[in-house]
Amino acid sequence: MITALDHIAIAVPDLQKAINRFMDDFGITFEGTQEVLAAKTTTAFFPIDGTSIELVHPLNGEGPLVQHLEKRGPGMHHICFRSDNLDEDVARLREKGYQFLSEEPSIGAHDARVIFIHPKSCDGVLVELNEFPEGH
Ligand code: CO
Repeated sequence: MITALDHIAIAVPDLQKAINRFMDDFGITFEGTQEVLAAKTTTAFFPIDGTSIELVHPLNGEGPLVQHLEKRGPGMHHICFRSDNLDEDVARLREKGYQFLSEEPSIGAHDARVIFIHPKSCDGVLVELNEFPEGH
């Protein structure tokens, strides 16, 4: 079951500049950065009122986000819903015809299991589903 809007992600070409904007100009608490090897991204999280803003940036200038930034420029990248049972939600949505970007979930930020629904299944919006390990 989907239980929360976990985060909204923005693709940024200059991570430090964007971090400074959210931290200094907007005054939102900066949780820190994390490298997500499976997605080849560096992420920065700003928790606010039960959800978070996630800034995503290509890790070491590589990965699918490089192409995304070249093609579409900076901007909204995905929204992420938290699931309390990822396998069940994926199976239910596949049954309804939703297409996913991968067969299996991978490990995302905060060591959550994550999987992405193809934007063409969601009116052009890239939707991530995540599930936190027990006790998170
Ligand atoms: Co995300």
